Amino acid sequence: MDTVAARLAPFGTTIFTEMTRLAQRHRAVNLAQGFPDFDGPDFVKDAAIDAIRAGRSQYARMIGDPALNAALATRWQSLTGHAVDPDIQITVTSGCTEAIAATMLGVINPGDRVVMFEPFYDSYRATAAMAGAQPRFVTLRPPPNLRAGEVTDSPFWFDMGELERAMAGARAILVNTPHNPTGHVLSRDELERIAFLCAKHNVLAITDEVYEDLTYAHEHVRLATLPGMSERTITLSSLGKTFSLTGWKIGWAITTPELSRAVRAAHQFLTFATATPLQIGAIAAIERGTPYVTSLRAQFSEAREFLAATLASLGFGVVMPRGTYFIMADHSEVSRRMGVAGDVEFCRQLPERFGVAAIPPSVFFDNPEHGRSLVRFAFCKKRETLEEAARRLRAIGPAPRA
Ligand SMILES: Cc1ncc(COP(=O)(O)O)c(C=O)c1O
Repeated sequence: MDTVAARLAPFGTTIFTEMTRLAQRHRAVNLAQGFPDFDGPDFVKDAAIDAIRAGRSQYARMIGDPALNAALATRWQSLTGHAVDPDIQITVTSGCTEAIAATMLGVINPGDRVVMFEPFYDSYRATAAMAGAQPRFVTLRPPPNLRAGEVTDSPFWFDMGELERAMAGARAILVNTPHNPTGHVLSRDELERIAFLCAKHNVLAITDEVYEDLTYAHEHVRLATLPGMSERTITLSSLGKTFSLTGWKIGWAITTPELSRAVRAAHQFLTFATATPLQIGAIAAIERGTPYVTSLRAQFSEAREFLAATLASLGFGVVMPRGTYFIMADHSEVSRRMGVAGDVEFCRQLPERFGVAAIPPSVFFDNPEHGRSLVRFAFCKKRETLEEAARRLRAIGPAPRA
């Protein structure tokens, strides 16, 4: 009997579940799933614990605890210079994942075209399907100078003509910057082009900015701050990546009053509200988190250099990420020596043969061929975890000399 509804049947079990199972079976160092192997900051945890002890355990307000909405509005104003009404324009959700679902279900009608970049975060396509949207993909491509055994600073890129064709007639574009899994941070020029096309074709922009605080010497530009875009952008983000608290699932959507009504129309029936004590913890993070974020960024910046150099020394072609905590690399030369073909086979064999788990990115492409030669590693790990992964991976052998 087919138990899964037709609209979700094509998506199966996420690749993270399969790779985590393989990592556990082979006691592999898990560089597959994107969460830290260290804890978030004590001052945030203490604020949540104090809230529980103080009896803050009943339903939160549907749109978010008033103090959290206020803290998010203050932060938004200091980051963008734009004032927002905390109780009208901000909705607190259960992670960015729920914000994505609430936005799709709230603003998209069946049959609407939604443009997204491939590779995409896996929930985009599934929530687009739940909303009955027609997805249309624009491909992010590795830089042409990507070579085995080298690290390139050149970024991923996309074809502007492809974007222009996709945007004509679309209802919305989903933009993720900094981008998982490529580590690309969309440049101001790229975002200005997207903004121009949004205005030209009357397209809404939904931005997923969960890695907004994790950029390395590259500016994170918020699409909502470009001229004319605050009226048509829904900015989504969350606490998890910035504060190493991925399990807390506190997210938010910031937008106009009209678009806010649409997001809330879905949010109220998806989760209604998000865990009260964790929202109280989130206030501490937002109001007092800057020193923590600065040191986390420095830690990840070193981890990024270390993993990039390690992978290149083994024969991977590495694109230095400008943001996030992921590295995308070309594995062709390494998999040739291993005698395997394609990213899925490469990632299935890596835990058993070398004791390290990674993610095959082809599952994040509409056309899996576009991701076949690539592999994603997460570097949001303790230094000793990354050193252990490097020690194990060295069994692959050094990159052959050119
Ligand atoms: C691009 C992107 N968006 C959203 C999420 C989910 O965010 P949250 O944990 O806040 O639901 C992730 C988590 O991996 C992500 O990489």
